[in-house]
Amino acid sequence: MQTIRGFRDILPEHIRLWQKVEKEASGLFKAFGFQEIRVPILEKTQLFSRSIGEVTDIVEKEMYTFADRKGDKLTLRPEATASIVRSYIQHKMYATDPVRKFFTIGPMFRRERPQKGRYRQFYQIDAEVFGIESALIDTQLIFLLNELFKRLGLTGLSAHINSLGCPECRPSFQKALLDFVTSKKESLCKNCLRRMEKNPLRILDCKVQACKEAVQDAPATLDHLCDDCETHFKTVKTSLKAQGVDFIVDKSLVRGLDYYTRTAWEIQTTTLGAQSAVAGGGRYDGLVKELGGPQTPGIGFAIGFDRLVEVMEQIEKTPEKEGLDLFIISLGEPAMEKGYLWSCELNQAGIRTEIDFRGKSLKALMKRANKLNAKYVLIAGENELADNSVILRDMNTKDQVSLSIETLVPELIKKLKLTK
Ligand code: HAM
Repeated sequence: MQTIRGFRDILPEHIRLWQKVEKEASGLFKAFGFQEIRVPILEKTQLFSRSIGEVTDIVEKEMYTFADRKGDKLTLRPEATASIVRSYIQHKMYATDPVRKFFTIGPMFRRERPQKGRYRQFYQIDAEVFGIESALIDTQLIFLLNELFKRLGLTGLSAHINSLGCPECRPSFQKALLDFVTSKKESLCKNCLRRMEKNPLRILDCKVQACKEAVQDAPATLDHLCDDCETHFKTVKTSLKAQGVDFIVDKSLVRGLDYYTRTAWEIQTTTLGAQSAVAGGGRYDGLVKELGGPQTPGIGFAIGFDRLVEVMEQIEKTPEKEGLDLFIISLGEPAMEKGYLWSCELNQAGIRTEIDFRGKSLKALMKRANKLNAKYVLIAGENELADNSVILRDMNTKDQVSLSIETLVPELIKKLKLTK
C-alpha cells in the first residue's frame, strides 16, 4: 500500500524543523495578541464556493468534494480563511468584541498537479484578524511575517504587495479590464473566454503562457483605486518603509481567491523553482457580510508550511542531530527490572532515556547507543548489581565512573540536567 499521489508522510527525521517553526510561530502570534483556533477539516462545499469564488481554479478544479451518505455536498478544506470566518459568524464573536485575532495550523487539500513545493495535502500556518480597518494592521501582519522569517533564519525573501481596490473602485477597473481582454480575445485560452463572461479578474492569473503574454499590459487595479483605497495603500507603504520592511509594489499580483479587497501580498522565494510563494494574504472586507455576518473588515495570511520547511532545509547545512541523554544497558533479567524502573523515573524528570528490553549483548547494545547518539550509557550487569553499583560512560570522552545504586536516580538527574 502506498500514499495517494500528492499526499506524503512527514517522517520523524524531518519533524524537527516543523516543530521549530510551530514553536516560533505560535510564540510570536501570542505575543502579537492572536489566539489559537481549530476548525474542522470538512465543511459544506457551499462555504468555499461562496467565499473563494465559483470561477476560481480552487473551486472549479482543485477541491476534494463528495456527497456523504445522506447526499450532503462536503469538501475537504482547501484553505482556512472561509472556515474561520464561518466560525466568527456562527459563534457571534462580533457581539462580544468585533476585534478578534486568530491563528491556526493544519492540513489543507487541493487537487493540483504535484511537484516540488506543491502537494495535494499540504499544511498552512494561517492568521486572521477581524474588525480592524486601519492600514496599520495590514502593515503589522506583513511585519509579523517578516519577523517570523527573520527568526527562522530565512533570507532572500521578497514581499510583493498590491491593492485590489474595493466595491467602490472595482467597476471602473472591471470595465477597463473587460475592454482590454476583449481586444485580446484571439490570444486567450478557452477557459479565459469563459472567465471573461463570469470573472475577468481571473484571466490575470491564468497559467497558460499565451494568456500570460496577452495580459502583460492589462490595466491594473492600482491605477483605478478610489481616494479611500489610495490613501489606505499609501499608509501601508509609508508605514512599512518606516519600519524598515522591504517590499516591492507588484501591480500584477491578483491572488487566486475572489474574496480579496484592498491590500494583497505574497512573500516569494527564488529557491523553490516554480512554487515561489511561501506565504500569501490580504484583506477581505466584504467576506463576513457575504457569509451572513455584520459588515466587518477582515485581513489575514497563510504560510505554506511545507514550502517554508523546504526553504529552511536548503539553508541548514548540517542539521542538528537529535539524540538521547542516556541509554541504559541492562544485562540479565534482574538488571532489566531495575533498569526499567530507573528509566521511568528519569523519563518523568525529563531526561531523554531509553532502555533496550531485547536482552542483546553488550557489544550490540553499545552499537545501538552510538546509533541513537546517546550522551551517556549506563551499564548494569550482574556483577555490578552484586556490588550495588553501576557504570556510567560518557560517550564523548569515553570516561567511566562507578555510581552507587542507592543514590543513582537523583545523581543522574543532577548530572544530566547540568549537561543539557
Ligand atoms: P493561498 O495563496 O492560496 O492563500 O495559499 C497560501 C500559501 O499556501 C501559498 O503561498 C503556498 O505557500 C501554500 N500553498 C498553497 N497551495 C499549496 C500546495 N498545493 N502545496 C503546498 N503549499 C501550498 C490562502 O490559502 C489564503 N487563505 C490566505 C489568506 C488568509 N488570505 C487571507 N487570510
